[in-house]
Amino acid sequence: MGMVGGGPGAFIGAVHRVAAELDGRIEMVAGAFSSSPEKSRQAGASYRIDPARAYGSYEEMIAKEKQRPDGIDFVVIATPNNTHLPIAKAALQAGLPVMSDKPATATYDEVLELEKLVKNSGLPYGLTHTYAGYGLVRDARALCAAGEIGPVRKVVVDYLQGWLSEKLEATGQKQAGWRVDPNISGPGGCIGDIGTHAFHLLEYITGLEVTALQGTLRSVVEGRRVDDDCTALLKLNNGAQGILLASQIATGEGNGIRIRIYGEKASLHWGQENPNTLLVRRASGPDETRHASAGYLTSDGRSVARVPAGHPEGYFEAFAVLYREFADWMEAWRADKTAPAPPTLPGLRAGVRGMRFIERSIESNKTGAWVDF
Ligand code: NAI
Repeated sequence: MGMVGGGPGAFIGAVHRVAAELDGRIEMVAGAFSSSPEKSRQAGASYRIDPARAYGSYEEMIAKEKQRPDGIDFVVIATPNNTHLPIAKAALQAGLPVMSDKPATATYDEVLELEKLVKNSGLPYGLTHTYAGYGLVRDARALCAAGEIGPVRKVVVDYLQGWLSEKLEATGQKQAGWRVDPNISGPGGCIGDIGTHAFHLLEYITGLEVTALQGTLRSVVEGRRVDDDCTALLKLNNGAQGILLASQIATGEGNGIRIRIYGEKASLHWGQENPNTLLVRRASGPDETRHASAGYLTSDGRSVARVPAGHPEGYFEAFAVLYREFADWMEAWRADKTAPAPPTLPGLRAGVRGMRFIERSIESNKTGAWVDF
């Protein structure tokens, strides 16, 4: 793979690299790691790749790699949001599949362009909604699909972080700086950065679709130009209702993404800060705690485990599950260009839904009214 982003001091690029390589199916051999050619070279050296393959720009990486007999097979996008579309476009137009970080693009119009590009190219496109890679998220999804909790009536999903409680962007902190700049992050702040993860998790586990929402987006920290605290009431396509909270000013919170799904027969409770247990509570009967990797899980829940129960897996492993499925898809696609995406791997559809969620939330916030999805 060739990665764009992940330069010195970056957050998610290094996670992509470790996750992609975890199962020995993918190797990072090239990159345009920073918009600064010098920093890209530095990062290339730290990743121990051939110095000739640490490029000064993604355009150069794609052009030069296409000329090599051993050139990259796909492009990873781990850069700020406003660069996702141009990088994906350049890769797809060169015939290279894409594994992108979320949100798929910076704006809803952009994702519609991306949708056309991906569909016309027929190339694999994956989206790293990390939480979809956890074994117990897969287990919860399979339990919902099998009707184990009965028809879903209510979903409560929250994603609470505290790191932007203060005006971190004023200190020059890089990750904060671009996330609160609408020209880079897109018009959504917190709603795009983490609200999209919560939204994806809800639709991913329940298999339901949001059909309408009423959103309230606030900028709590003075002078901030994008939202940092969001609440959305949701209607789902089976008549259920939900509530989604996303906040980056929830003082003291770390990376608290949690979901509770209430069906007629039982409810499911999972949170990523304690990802190796899934609680099932029943209308009648005792609570059940399901443990990651255990033999009694659904086959979807078990199949992503790498180590026996009791050996904790976490963020890197969940990320690596998505890469493993992307590798499966790449291999199938090489043999048959019509090979479909693995149904458990988030991709283009998730990207379009997520961008629609941001756009609808912003629209609803203008008037306070419910908006259809
Ligand atoms: P960051 O600011 O830490 O790193 C971004 C990197 O991209 C930097 O090294 C920067 O130099 C590089 N870059 C910027 N423009 C570039 C260009 N034109 N060419 C090459 N490199 C360029 O940002 P962070 O936090 O790593 O986020 C990156 C993306 O990943 C964002 O879209 C974010 O939403 C997403 N993300 C996803 C997470 C997940 O759980 N899946 C978690 C964190 C971030």
